[in-house]
Amino acid sequence: MILKYLALTSLIVLYSLMFIGGYISAAGLGLTCPDWPLCPSGLFPSEKYFIEWSHRLIAATTGALIIATAVGCWLAKNAERKIKLTGTLAAIFVVTQITLGAIVIDLKLHALLVSIHLGIGILLFAMVLLTTLFAFRLGKTTIQAKI
Ligand code: HEM
Repeated sequence: MILKYLALTSLIVLYSLMFIGGYISAAGLGLTCPDWPLCPSGLFPSEKYFIEWSHRLIAATTGALIIATAVGCWLAKNAERKIKLTGTLAAIFVVTQITLGAIVIDLKLHALLVSIHLGIGILLFAMVLLTTLFAFRLGKTTIQAKI
């Protein structure tokens, strides 16, 4: 029951993160915060680093939500193989994506790495979307199977 709302929350937060990432890229703000994992202002935001800081904070939140969703997929009763697969792939992609984000900064926005960052972001979105759709159908398919 809780799994579908966890997956839906992950999807919405991930969408916002990708939106902010696109803004950072288009506005040329990618290197405003040159350190990793924290910006020079530390744990708290300052006006100068706010957009980059929010991309990282939301990335951390998204990571936690997606990993929790993956765990939920494995623990859910009646969960089919496909939801376990998409949930696990989403968890793998989110960890890869966060690691890649750090490398993107370290290598000063190398064009190939920024493109891979966008590509993995799209794959990640697809996996979280599928997981959400499967999670919403989880209870229904069981009821239909009983009829
Ligand atoms: C779940 C995690 C993440 C997702 C889904 C994500 C997604 C995105 C997306 C969609 C873009 C826009 C790419 C483009 O338009 O070409 C972007 C840009 C960017 N992301 Fe992330 N991101 C994530 C985590 C991170 C992390 C942890 C960092 C590390 C600091 C990071 C650093 C960046 C930077 C610097 C840009 C701008 C690149 C540029 O200036 O062209 N991202 N992100």
